[in-house]
Amino acid sequence: MSNDKEIRYQELYKQIEGIVSGESDQIANLANTAALIHEAFGFWWTGFYLVKGEQLVLGPFQGPVACTRIPYGKGVCGSTWQRKETIVVPDVHQFPGHIACSSLSQSEIVVPMFDGDSVYAVLDIDSKELATFDETDKVWLEKIVTLL
Ligand code: SME
Repeated sequence: MSNDKEIRYQELYKQIEGIVSGESDQIANLANTAALIHEAFGFWWTGFYLVKGEQLVLGPFQGPVACTRIPYGKGVCGSTWQRKETIVVPDVHQFPGHIACSSLSQSEIVVPMFDGDSVYAVLDIDSKELATFDETDKVWLEKIVTLL
């Protein structure tokens, strides 16, 4: 399973690299990246929140309608922005302050995206199963966001 996931991420990384290398528009690249990740693994929700002032604002995504604004330090996304590191949540019901955009979401990973030292966006992925995300997801998703 883990090996299978590793191979799928290798493939996905190449696809995303191919798509974003020929396009300079950031929104276009975030949109296609969300679609590629989402389809590769069949996640419940895959998307980006962009830092705008003191809030994260919903960006390109795949999946059901989502919360549009998240304050700094709030929920998993706002905490990732504050801590400046990836947060893997095996059970969202155990994460204090988790923001439930969908009651079906069970586990989550949020990866910060950096411009120099500051976070300019986060990649947020939700799963309908518990404990979907592990170190393999963390490593590969952190690698993928450096392409963007
Ligand atoms: N659960 C996230 C909010 C975003 S939605 O999952 C798309 C959080 O706690 O930050």
